[in-house]
Formats: sequence, structure tokens, C-alpha cells
Amino acid sequence: MEKFYITTPIYYVNDKPHIGHAYTTIIADVFARWHRLNNEKVFFLTGTDEHGGKIEKAANEKNKTPKELVDETSQKYKTTWEKLNISYDKFIRTTDKSHEETVKRFIKKVFEKGDIYKGEYEGFYCLPDERYITESELVGGKCPDCGRDVQKIKEEAYFFKLSKYKDQIINLINKGLILPEKNANEILNRLKGELKDLDISRKSVSWGIKFPLDESHSVYVWFDALLNYLSALNWPDGSEFKEFWPADIHLVGKEIVWFHSVIWPAMLMSADLPLPKNILAHGWWTVDGKKMSKSIGNVVDPIEIADKYSADAFRYFLLREKPTWEDGDFSEAALKERINGELMSNLSNLVARVLTLAEKFEGKIEGKPEIEDFIRKEEIIENFEKKDLYSALNLIFEGIRKINKYVNDKEPWKLEGKNLANVLYNSLEAIRIATIFLKPFMPSTAEKIEKKLGVNGQLLSDAFFREFSTKVERGENLFNKIN
Ligand code: MSP
Repeated sequence: MEKFYITTPIYYVNDKPHIGHAYTTIIADVFARWHRLNNEKVFFLTGTDEHGGKIEKAANEKNKTPKELVDETSQKYKTTWEKLNISYDKFIRTTDKSHEETVKRFIKKVFEKGDIYKGEYEGFYCLPDERYITESELVGGKCPDCGRDVQKIKEEAYFFKLSKYKDQIINLINKGLILPEKNANEILNRLKGELKDLDISRKSVSWGIKFPLDESHSVYVWFDALLNYLSALNWPDGSEFKEFWPADIHLVGKEIVWFHSVIWPAMLMSADLPLPKNILAHGWWTVDGKKMSKSIGNVVDPIEIADKYSADAFRYFLLREKPTWEDGDFSEAALKERINGELMSNLSNLVARVLTLAEKFEGKIEGKPEIEDFIRKEEIIENFEKKDLYSALNLIFEGIRKINKYVNDKEPWKLEGKNLANVLYNSLEAIRIATIFLKPFMPSTAEKIEKKLGVNGQLLSDAFFREFSTKVERGENLFNKIN
């Protein structure tokens, strides 16, 4: 049995999740469900990144202790994932004792390798991004990534010999570590400049894991956070580590590809560990044309959207509205349009129309397969292999539109006997197969359709035309028109 290990970034807990965080987690969920559908052994990891100056500051501002804030916010993440039907196998928190032990152990190992030394850091730091910035990187005195103010710092620190791994990293990226290619090119361009050693300890941050070589320092939050991917598998002795490492996909937003494709592989190289297969980057969402921000007041809460429109409609929208690697804009108006124009008038109506007619049948509905090619199975599978969920979902809906057209053309409500049975047989089988492919994207809708069709727990291996002999039940509409 093949294994598949997928991770999301672990999210900062300075604030509750918004649709950007939900997007990453939903994409990972689609992959995890797809690989389970293919009968693979899957480990899907998500969690929260709970240390560092940013969290400390947020807690202060909210009049809470960091511990109170991280407990509260990580719980909000869990609640949100439950609402969105996220099938993670493990939720890791960087304040978990076992994670802290792993970080200390890893640092000792890298130190023994000769890759950590003490020095002095002088430069700038962007607190919201938790990243070091050199003078030459500053844009108008501000952070080059987010445009916000930076702090000038000069302090004693421990360094990781990142520069030592530069050539190996370039090699790795040239071999296809980063997907899609445009993100790889960006990193390769950045690597044309000097790659400096990385400051991995902070004297001035107290909310962090104590640096094992010198307890007056804490571990730099990114060095701590990246190690979640190993500690979640109970590295080095855990059976999960032996079974699932290396990661098949580290899914990340485009802004943190650098950490995952440069720093993380160098850390693993230093510890003599196998390297992840792919860093898969996705684009960003704006809301109503603007970057989400508290001051604009356009931060969208995924729970509110799921409550109002259903988790599946929200999942569908996010995956269907734009290719995952592009940026896109979220608006409720666009979401409603997709619900009414696609989920309701295509999918829901098709299922309702066919099942209304098929309900009258008891037992086997006989027919000859004639629309097997409507759901282009091989191409959908190929798209999943290329990690192109957008095209896979488009193909499924193209198939659903074709089944609809077939029903319209054949007008089964005017037919009877064998002719009626034949059209119903074909429509039902095509719907059943489309549903298998819909499962990763819209798990509860797919489950509802399966129930209506009288089948359950279908796998990819069930995606072929066969006998149709279950009793169907039309039941309620899957989606209704939204005004
Ligand atoms: N804690 C780090 C990651 C450490 S991983 C070892 C971090 N956390 S974060 O809370 O800022 O979340 C980052 C992720 O959320 C991004 O990589 C991206 O996947 C997602 N998004 C945050 N805002 C987003 C949008 N507006 N649009 C799409 N995704 C975005 O970085």
C-alpha cells in the first residue's frame, strides 16, 4: 500500500482563522481525501504555530497571557476545521511537550554536526512576518514582503550554517522540489545573491522554546515551527516517522516558499534526513478586491460563510473560482452566483430530476452503457497527479453538464419501459461515478448523493459502469436557490 504524507503550514495563533487559512487547509484536505479514495495510507497534518514575539505581543494587547491566547486560538482553529469537514489525522501545537523535546534534540544533532555557532546579529526584524531582513532588502525602510515597519536589532545569537547548503539547495530546486515552476524561479533568482547563515536564537524573546545550548536564548520561531513536520511523526523513533517520512507535499502559501524550500531542506540535510518531495505553493485571496485586513474590516470568517452557505459550497467556491496557483478575489456575490448557477441548477437539479423518475423502480434498472466517457476519468486522475485540483474539478463539472444535457435530450419523462430504464441506468451510473470524484472536494454532498443512490463508501476502484440495482430515494434537494 502506498503512503501519502501531506502537511499544511502551522498557523499563527495571534488571531482566529480567516478564509486564507481555510483555503490552504481545504486544499490539503482535498489531496488527503483523494489519496484515501485511491486506497493509500494517508497522514494529513495541520496545527498551530504558537511561539515567538508576534504571539507575545498579541497576548499583551489582548490582556492575556501567551498561554491563554494560544489555548484559546488553537481551539478556534480546531472548531473551524471541524465545521469545514477537514479530515486531518493529527493537529500539532508547537507548545506540545513532545514537539519541544524534538526541537531541542534536533538542535543538538545539528550542533554536533558542526552547523551551529555563536555570533552577533545586526540587522532588522519584521515582527508580523517573524523574519530577519538585511539592510539591502529594506524597501523604503520597511519590510520588503509586507510593507510594515521593522525593528532594528543588534544582539548575540546562535547561527545555523545555511550558506553551506546553498549549492545542494539549488540542485534540489532544479530537480523540481517547488511547484509550480514560477515559484521555483522566484526562489532561484533570490539564491543568485548571497545566502547568509541564519540567526536561530533570540535573546529578547521569552515566549519560545529554550535554546538547548544556552538557556538565556529562545529558539527562533521558524526553526521551531518547521520541525513540526518531524515531531508530529515522533521523529526519530516513532513508527509514524518510519512509515510516512519524507513528506509528499508540504502545502504552503506563496509567501512562505522560501522557508520551506531553502531553510527547511538545509536543516534536513544537516541532520542527514531524507528531503520532502514537493513544496506546493498556492496563491492568495483578496476580499472584494482588497487585501484582508482588520483595519479595513474585510476579514472573512470561514465559520460564518459555512453557516450561511454550507461548508461544501464554500469549499467548492474556493477550488473552482481560480486556479490554486493564481491569486483571486473572494466575494459573497460571486459565491452565490456559483451556488445558483452550478451547484443548484446543474448538480442538484440533475440529481433531483433523475432520482424522481428512478424512485419508481424497484430493484435492477437495466440498460447499456452509452455515456461512460462523460466523466473523463483518466484526465481527472492525471490532473490530480499534476497537483492541478482546479482542472480536475472543472472536468468533473463538465461531465455533470454533459449528463444534464443527455437527460434533456433524451426527455426520459416522455419515455417508458426499456427506453426509460436505459436512460435512467446511464444517468444514474454517470452520476454515481461523478460522485466518487466529487468526494474529495465536497465530502458531505457526495455522501448525501451516495445515500440517495443507495451506495456508500465508494472508492476510486468503483468508478466504472456496472449493474445498477439499488433502491434510490430522491429526498431533499442538495442545494436550493439563494437570493
Ligand atoms: N506560522 C507560519 C507558518 C509556519 S509553517 C512551518 C505562518 N502562519 S500564518 O498564520 O501566517 O499562515 C500562513 C498561511 O495561511 C499561508 O502560507 C497561506 O497558506 C495562508 N494564508 C494566509 N492568508 C492568506 C490569504 N489571504 N489567501 C490565501 N492564503 C493565505 O506563516
